[in-house]
Amino acid sequence: MLDLLRQVLGPWYLQIKFVHVLSVAVWIASTVVAYTYYVVPVFKAWRRNPQDPEIITLRNWVMERFDQGIIFEHVAFPLIILTGPMMYIAGGWSTATNWLLLKIILVCLVAIPIEMFDYHISHFRGNKQRLRRAGDAAGYDRAVQRHWMFFLITSPPIMVFSVLIVFLAITKPF
Ligand code: HEM
Repeated sequence: MLDLLRQVLGPWYLQIKFVHVLSVAVWIASTVVAYTYYVVPVFKAWRRNPQDPEIITLRNWVMERFDQGIIFEHVAFPLIILTGPMMYIAGGWSTATNWLLLKIILVCLVAIPIEMFDYHISHFRGNKQRLRRAGDAAGYDRAVQRHWMFFLITSPPIMVFSVLIVFLAITKPF
């Protein structure tokens, strides 16, 4: 079965790699401007003036847009997770290659769990637009605050580990 897959995918290795690397670029960079120049400033303003209705309106608008904008990242991520193993098989890679083993461990322990939670709070039960349309004001506020906590907790490790994963893949240091 693996041999068959290797034969089928082998000739497409570079095209698969193209999709993998392009998706990595989208995964890493697609939310950077929105996060840095919209989400963070509006949340800082709200922390300073938690009762200001204008800032709350702006905060909610930004969060709803962010839930939509992050769709780019969340389409790119499954493409990475699909094309990585495809190249693994097509290229005859193995976990005896240390940089690749470390990369896969980091992807499984850091990137996948964080992304799973991110899907949940952005598109499923934590989707702000859906909560607003359902008239669940308390749930809406909880969802916005939980999303902010998620950003605070996950941004530092994801910044470090995503760069480390790319560094390992490109430099193949060991
Ligand atoms: C967040 C997840 C991932 C990121 C950021 C990432 C990043 C990258 C990058 C930037 C490259 C290009 C390296 C180069 O051109 O020299 C690459 C290649 C590769 N990745 Fe990933 N990857 C991820 C997930 C995975 C997974 C889950 C696997 C396998 C299970 C995988 C297997 C591979 C393989 C086999 C290559 C080809 C190396 C080569 O041909 O030189 N990747 N990855």
